[in-house]
Amino acid sequence: MTATPGNPLPRPLLLESAAGRRALASASWRTSLAVLRGYGAEVDARDDHLVVRTPANPDYHWGNCLVVTSGDVDDAGGWLGVFEREFPEATHRALGLLRRPDERAWQEAGLAVEVERTFTALSPITPAPVPPGYRVTPVRGLVWDALLRVELAGGPDTAEHRRFATRRLAADRAWVEAGHAEWFAALAPDDSVASSLGIVDVGGEARYQQVGTGASHRRRGLARHLLGAASEWAFARGVRQLVIVADVGQGGDLLYDAAGFTPGPVEYGVYAASMARSDKSVPDALEDGVYSAGNTAVGREPGLRAFGDVNNAAAPGQAPGRGA
Ligand SMILES: CC(C)(COP(=O)(O)OP(=O)(O)OC[C@H]1O[C@@H](n2cnc3c(N)ncnc32)[C@H](O)[C@@H]1OP(=O)(O)O)[C@@H](O)C(=O)NCCC(=O)NCCS
Repeated sequence: MTATPGNPLPRPLLLESAAGRRALASASWRTSLAVLRGYGAEVDARDDHLVVRTPANPDYHWGNCLVVTSGDVDDAGGWLGVFEREFPEATHRALGLLRRPDERAWQEAGLAVEVERTFTALSPITPAPVPPGYRVTPVRGLVWDALLRVELAGGPDTAEHRRFATRRLAADRAWVEAGHAEWFAALAPDDSVASSLGIVDVGGEARYQQVGTGASHRRRGLARHLLGAASEWAFARGVRQLVIVADVGQGGDLLYDAAGFTPGPVEYGVYAASMARSDKSVPDALEDGVYSAGNTAVGREPGLRAFGDVNNAAAPGQAPGRGA
């Protein structure tokens, strides 16, 4: 089946498997998978997990991941082994966990468990006023280029990150141009992008993407305004529910709560931008020190918000990164 935005997720296929049904029952993963399908992802349902691959963007870590839907969620070594078999070339590790894991089991394997909360809304979010001096616009033309500059500046200066960010933004733009998504930006007086976000209509539901405000523009109501503008866009199209996902404790959850979204369940994820293989068949390159062990390559994480501070220990590059 060809994935097209607006009808991107082959629900019947996933509904045939228990793992698929479990993932589709999660608003967060249901909408994530729909968005990923729109980016060209292939989703294979196995007994107790999904394998998600995005051949069009192999540097997209959360587009090339496992979703553990059942089984022993604490078997960190076992799941890392599955990941490494499915993605033998990958240096990253990205695993979504639907059930709460034992953090110690994953810590012993070298990975911190991150917590994400899903928020929803069944009616439009009341937009805060645009703060004085800013101009809000749907992203078009040169503003896409400005947004790419922000994305690139917010991540590490590596070929992988440049490829990832360029490809994903091109896919976002294609969705907007096809009429299935909208991106909004708040521009500062010098026309630089101060804040931005996207919203994608995945059919009945709309999923927010990439919410971020530049550090020097925060706490002025910019994100709050854009959340409202995007919600109006979505409900005007007949969407019934808004879905947004926040990494707990990074500011986004407080923003969505303050904006009037309803807090929903939490889910879990483990992520490393770069990690040595857990089996002992260490590639030569690793012994040569080409790969760094541990969750240290901040910003290679493809879910990095454009406005993350790459030097900040709590930067989104170290979080699961599926959040908006
Ligand atoms: C989270 C983020 C998008 C907020 O953007 P912003 O433009 O500063 O948000 P707003 O000014 O619209 O905030 C509106 C309200 O949300 C809440 N809020 C926003 N950021 C908050 C924070 N860091 N801590 C506590 N509350 C916060 C407050 O209630 C705020 O109102 P107040 O300033 O009157 O108290 C921004 O800090 C950011 O880009 N952070 C890095 C990337 C990120 O974490 N993105 C979210 C992904 S889930």
